[in-house]
Parts: sequence; C-alpha cells; structure tokens
Amino acid sequence: MKYQPAKSVPVDCPATKHRYSIAVTWTVPALAAQAEELARQLALPLTETEGQHILLLRVSQEGLELVKLDDPHLNGPVRVDFTAGAIDYRRQQQGRELLLKAVGCKGNRRPVVLDATGGLGRDSFLLAAAGCQVRIIEREPILAALLADGLQRAQQHSKTAAIAARIRLTVGDATLFLREMRKQGQRMEVIYLDPMFPERHKSALVKKEAQMLQLLAAPDNPEAEKELLAAALAVSGRVAIKRPVKAPFLAGRKPSYSLLGKTIRFDVYLS
Ligand SMILES: C[S@@+](CC[C@H](N)C(=O)[O-])C[C@H]1O[C@@H](n2cnc3c(N)ncnc32)[C@H](O)[C@@H]1O
Repeated sequence: MKYQPAKSVPVDCPATKHRYSIAVTWTVPALAAQAEELARQLALPLTETEGQHILLLRVSQEGLELVKLDDPHLNGPVRVDFTAGAIDYRRQQQGRELLLKAVGCKGNRRPVVLDATGGLGRDSFLLAAAGCQVRIIEREPILAALLADGLQRAQQHSKTAAIAARIRLTVGDATLFLREMRKQGQRMEVIYLDPMFPERHKSALVKKEAQMLQLLAAPDNPEAEKELLAAALAVSGRVAIKRPVKAPFLAGRKPSYSLLGKTIRFDVYLS
C-alpha cells in the first residue's frame, strides 16, 4: 500500500519555544523509497517540495541530513559525519583525554561504556576510537535516525569501520532502560551522561552541531535528571557526567571527584 503522508507534524524547539513543522524529503528519485520508509518509521510527513516545511530531514546521496530553511546561520545541511575527522577522533578532539580518564581508561584498560545520552554520538565515537565497546541510548527518534545514518556510513568507510563496529545504538529513554536493567539484575561497567545544558551563546555563534541538538532535543527538568542519575548509579559502580565547567552538580549530588578542563568538567561518581 502506498504511504499516505500525514499533515505537518509540529516539533517543539526547546531553545526558542518555536514550533517547527518537519518533514522527510529526498534529493534524487532513486532515494524516494528510502525517504518514504524513514517517514513511516518516524511518523513524519513526506514531502517532495521543500517550501512548506521549515525543517527537513533529507535523504541525500551524502547521507541523511537536517536542513533548516529559514536560518541563515545554519548554512547548508547538517549530517552526522565521523569519516571526515576520523584521524581527529583518535588524537585531537577537545576534552578527549579527560573523557577517557573520566570513564576509567587507564593503560590498556578499556571499559565497556553505556552512553545514556547519545546525542550526535561524538563522545561515544571518541570512546570507541580509543578501544571501548559502547552502547548508546538516545531518546529523540530524529536525532537517533541521524546518528544511525552517521554510524552506518562510518561502518562503510575503511578508516572508521573498526571504530563503528564497537558501537551499538538503541532508541529509547535511558532512565527506563536502566531501570529495566536493574530489574533484570544486569550491571554496566561504566555509564556516561552528557545531559542537555541551556546554551549560553547567541544562536549565531553556536556551532552547527549544537544548533541541531537544540532544535531536536529538549533540556531535561531537574526531576528527570535526578531520576536518570539515580537509575545509572543503581546499575553501575562508575558514572561519569560531562558538565560545563561552572555548572552545578547534576541533581545537586556531589561526585567522588571532578576532572576540570577549560570549559567542561567531568564529575565522576564511584560506588
Ligand atoms: C548534550 S546531548 C549529548 C551529546 C553527546 N554527548 C555527543 O557527544 O554528541 C544530550 C542528548 O541526550 C539525550 N537525552 C537526554 N535525556 C535522555 C534520556 N533520559 N534518555 C535518552 N536520551 C536522553 C537528548 O535527547 C540529547 O540528544
């Protein structure tokens, strides 16, 4: 049966409180069926003409991309792309050393990490590039679709295939996932959290990736953050949380210790 496009689906933009209409589209006819399938999976409308929607999830030959038509600062589409900076992922990403330390990488030790707030997967990719096995949980289906597409392309690229093979992505709410783990008596070596934090810069200055996160993911309320941290601590002896360097502790809970960078900090909870 032919897919019936729904009407416009409004998406809350947490940063500006605007409601955007988002639809799936494609660049060349050969990709139309793939776009149709994606629209069905995400329960989004499918559109052939770009004009009616402000946000588009576009299936292109370069990969799945987010396009925001009314924003001069978000020039060009945004994709999750691990292949372009593949070498950087091993060496020079900002905060890499601190992140590795925070999750307990030491000498040859590479723990299995559950990244419960996957986002665009940059931190997970760094961890996997260092040799960790990583399980990502991301609750926003559109972000997860962009991330899944980036990981798939990374699997097909000779420079990144081995790294991407160490990553597994699950779409869902991490608090529920962790509670279920606890019920089943399962444990996780390390849990990593990088919850949304209100962006302080003017939108023109915020990098493309940060804009994409702001458009597609909402900052959590303190109660939800508290529940996520409690669920993580219940199944792991090591929880590492990324925070802006001057931010208060997540859920007001003091960590065992913190690792300080210039702009970010990792709070480590050991039990
Ligand atoms: C700041 S971003 C993470 C960025 C990520 N560390 C990276 O390197 O790209 C936070 C992400 O966590 C997700 N998130 C927040 N709470 C979550 C939860 N309870 N379960 C799953 N994902 C969650 C949000 O949807 C958002 O995509």
